[in-house]
Amino acid sequence: MRAAIFTAPDASPVCADFPEPTVPPGSEPLQLVGAGLHNVVRGLATGRHYGRGQMRYPLVPGIDAVARTSDGRLVYTGYARPPFGTMAERLFAPFQADVPAGADPLAIAAGMNPSLSGWMVLTARRRELGALGTVLVLGATGTSGSLAVQGALALGAERVIAAGRDQGTLEQLRGEGATTVSLAHDGPDSLERALADVVSETAPGLVLDYLWGSVAEAAFAALGRSGEDVEADTSYVQIGTLAGAKAALPADLLRSRRIRITGSGVGSVSHEEMLAEAPEVMARFADGTLHLPYTAFPLSRIGEAWAHTGRSRVVVVPD
Ligand SMILES: NC(=O)c1ccc[n+]([C@@H]2O[C@H](COP(=O)([O-])OP(=O)(O)OC[C@H]3O[C@@H](n4cnc5c(N)ncnc54)[C@H](OP(=O)(O)O)[C@@H]3O)[C@@H](O)[C@H]2O)c1
Repeated sequence: MRAAIFTAPDASPVCADFPEPTVPPGSEPLQLVGAGLHNVVRGLATGRHYGRGQMRYPLVPGIDAVARTSDGRLVYTGYARPPFGTMAERLFAPFQADVPAGADPLAIAAGMNPSLSGWMVLTARRRELGALGTVLVLGATGTSGSLAVQGALALGAERVIAAGRDQGTLEQLRGEGATTVSLAHDGPDSLERALADVVSETAPGLVLDYLWGSVAEAAFAALGRSGEDVEADTSYVQIGTLAGAKAALPADLLRSRRIRITGSGVGSVSHEEMLAEAPEVMARFADGTLHLPYTAFPLSRIGEAWAHTGRSRVVVVPD
């Protein structure tokens, strides 16, 4: 079968023949409809993601997809076993959930991974407290951050603060109901001031951080400034590292505010927990609550797909 193939971590992917995926007895392979090119897919294929384990090459990249079963159903599927990733004409992964009628299958392929990253955290917090209160999303102009803002609004947050750099995307999120704060500032002091101004109005009960690095440091300083309310409780959840892999944590933040800092990702959230939310998230794509721009590339143009740098999520489709 035709597939996208990585022969080494530092090689560019090519479209070539690859063996058929291993399928358990009694199961049939699935036909690819679309597989999202997420940050985790890039990181695993090139050996840079912390969840990579022992990668062996050659391999087919891709962790999830929308695919067609042998009896014609459209399913969202995930957690294929290496070296058989999802960017191939045929694939097999143990988890399969029906795509609801009316949903755009390519939007599901593009959006499930980035949307689940925020949705899992939001629904866990709502179960814990019964309400979301004020939610701050750091990195709200990225794919996952924008979907987290949409998710928080849909799940009834009182106030959603969307912090990011791109003005156009911030304006769009404001139009959807978020309060926005620009992170397009030079220097840590102005970043901290921008965040302090917005969190001093209502301190966030939940922070979803897709950036870490210097932005997290500015957020820690801003949260430390507005910590007089001893009843306020903040859950700060680390999800992505687009602004840096490390951030210095000031000790006085931990004393001046009731704050818990945790992370969400491969290893801290089980596949079962993620998959339990998949039908609800797909329903939100079907009714338009969650939406994102995507660009489809056929398997034969995998090199171009990998090099794509626009704001839309790449979805790899069969030729
Ligand atoms: N743990 C999980 O379950 C999980 C799941 C999905 C994603 N993630 C991680 O979350 C992060 C975001 O993923 P994504 O899918 O949203 O990626 P993406 O769509 O590629 O987002 C890129 C955005 O990051 C922003 N950015 C980069 N550096 C920045 C900086 N220094 N300050 C402010 N903004 C910056 C850019 O915003 P501007 O355009 O405004 O400049 C850009 O739009 C990645 O690290 C990804 O690996 C984790």
